[in-house]
Amino acid sequence: MEEFESHDEARCPESRPVGGRPRAWARYRKHIDIPASPWSEALDVILSHRTVRRYSSRALPADILKTILAAAQSAPTSSNLQAWSVVAVTDPARKHRFAELAYPNTHVGEAPLLLMWLADLARLRTVTRRNARPSAGLDYLETFMVAVIDAALAAQNVVVMLDSFGIGSCFCGSMRNHPELVAKELGLPEEVICVFGMAVGHPAEETLTDIKPRLPQELVLHHERYDADPREDAIADYNRSLRSFQAEQGMNLVDWTEMVARRIGTVEALQQRHLLKQSLAKLGFKNR
Ligand SMILES: Cc1cc2nc3c(=O)[nH]c(=O)nc-3n(C[C@H](O)[C@H](O)[C@H](O)COP(=O)(O)O)c2cc1C
Repeated sequence: MEEFESHDEARCPESRPVGGRPRAWARYRKHIDIPASPWSEALDVILSHRTVRRYSSRALPADILKTILAAAQSAPTSSNLQAWSVVAVTDPARKHRFAELAYPNTHVGEAPLLLMWLADLARLRTVTRRNARPSAGLDYLETFMVAVIDAALAAQNVVVMLDSFGIGSCFCGSMRNHPELVAKELGLPEEVICVFGMAVGHPAEETLTDIKPRLPQELVLHHERYDADPREDAIADYNRSLRSFQAEQGMNLVDWTEMVARRIGTVEALQQRHLLKQSLAKLGFKNR
């Protein structure tokens, strides 16, 4: 298992890796030839990302919402439509109601801040209506996708920013398990949906999470044309990397291929999200 030898170095957040290579190692659990130059603080932060699901009682910095919004709004946005919004939830009772709707994601209720990221066509509908202009483009699936992509890019900017501060975060796609109930709790108008939540809080000191390895690059990167035959040995490699990560984290050992099968194998595993198309219609999206 020579490829795992340098992992302790990668686990140590204080160590300033030469050229950041140990972090790249941790991301793949094997040597990959990322050049030492150019390198940046931003890349170091990005490669060090890990989701945080346990939070300390330490308060978030005052006024962090302004910084969060500035980071989110700095993300690219399709045609500058800015078809997203976010609701900041700090009321404990409301956070817990959302945690129940996103069961089993109870940690969402424990975080000091819960951000609810919205694909928002309502603002665009309103401004065009006020100017007595048509808005037929909003009736199409394309514009809905624009809004979802915009929300995801804005949210990911925030994850990177929080990571750079040492503040933890966890996306919560389970907010789509009951989109209409979530919309009601948030008071959303028509043509707005919460695409995911995001718990934000300082990581609990007793639970150190590590960098979760990703698929080997060769499975994800295609040259010139798509290769529809992912290499079995590369997938087996990844199953081993993930198991080694799980063992270190005290998690159940489950191959990635098995996790995929469980996640996509049945309608039940979608946890109500198989009804999303109907929910979108009920929430006022035309999606032609
Ligand atoms: C859109 C989206 C939805 C997610 N939903 C959940 C969720 O409902 N619950 C959860 O615990 N983690 C959720 N995650 C976090 C992923 O499980 C996590 O990013 C993944 O396992 C990789 O781990 P890492 O972020 O630590 O590298 C979500 C991530 C994304 C991008």
